[in-house]
Amino acid sequence: MSDHIEMTKTTPKDFLLATLGGLFAPGLAIFLIVMLVLGVLASMGKPDAAPMADKAVRERIQPFGVSVAVDPNAPHTDRTGEQIFNDVCSGCHGSGALGSPKFKDTQAWGKRIAQGFDTLLTHALNGFNKMPVRGGEPDLSDLEVARGVAYMTNAAGAHFEASLKKEAEPSASDLARGKVVYADNCAYCHDTGLTGAEKLKDAKAWAPLLKLGKDYLYTAAIKGSFGGPAKGGNDKLSDADTRTAVDYMVGQVRTATK
Ligand code: HEC
Ligand code: HEC
Repeated sequence: MSDHIEMTKTTPKDFLLATLGGLFAPGLAIFLIVMLVLGVLASMGKPDAAPMADKAVRERIQPFGVSVAVDPNAPHTDRTGEQIFNDVCSGCHGSGALGSPKFKDTQAWGKRIAQGFDTLLTHALNGFNKMPVRGGEPDLSDLEVARGVAYMTNAAGAHFEASLKKEAEPSASDLARGKVVYADNCAYCHDTGLTGAEKLKDAKAWAPLLKLGKDYLYTAAIKGSFGGPAKGGNDKLSDADTRTAVDYMVGQVRTATK
């Protein structure tokens, strides 16, 4: 009996397979590790459900009247009534929050509409009980507020035009008188900016003040405001003369703006 153990001869083909197998196993392992890492990385970028739900909750419980930062240098274009309503007023009037008359609620709006557009607009511009000044957005222009009022009231049955109250134009003689009063009592601060007075030529400084309306400016000039002395410091000046000076100033500022 010959114990013949057949020695298998390693053929080049066997050698090749063995080599490939040897390379393949660690290669596979590396491949799987890489895939695992990639998978972990990918899932890190993806928001999972929990924070998403959190965000939704935070958005829902956001307080009313959150302002959005607006570039002050961006040219201002007046939005439509619908946009104003959606952007600003719906925060309360959409749901009737704080006891506000709800959108399209003809009953809640009926008596208010009967006051007429000018009164409603005045209340929307200046605030009214819990109704904040300009709906809490001081950057809204008068026209935008007027459009918001018209949009909401018309949706509750009114037929208003979003018109702004026309300020009575001062007469030529008032303006002439105002020029003299200004030169005598106001110019030494408002021509130069002394003590921080808004310079007459500084249209930018006046823009937010003009928005508040002439009634505000008359009162500020007659009673004094923010370091501006009452009647320019001349207590002999009459209220009427002080008003003509304001008319003159506003006229000058408007001319400078044009
Ligand atoms: C923070 C909540 C809030 C926002 C935002 C808001 N309003 Fe109001 N508004 C109220 C409340 C509250 C009232 C009711 C006030 C009252 O009658 O005592 C009201 C009343 C009004 C009235 C009726 C006034 C009257 O004389 O009866 C008008 C008009 C009005 N709002 C316009 C607007 C416009 C336009 C906007 C958007 C530019 C706006 N509101 C945004 C709360 C709000
Ligand atoms: C002694 C300096 C001085 C004189 C004189 C003076 N003002 Fe002023 N005026 C000021 C200052 C300061 C302010 C406030 C600037 C600010 O708001 O920061 C001001 C503000 C104003 C404003 C804007 C109101 C506001 O809220 O800012 C008006 C309107 C005004 N003055 C009218 C007049 C008129 C009209 C006269 C003349 C009859 C006059 N001023 C005379 C210093 C003066």
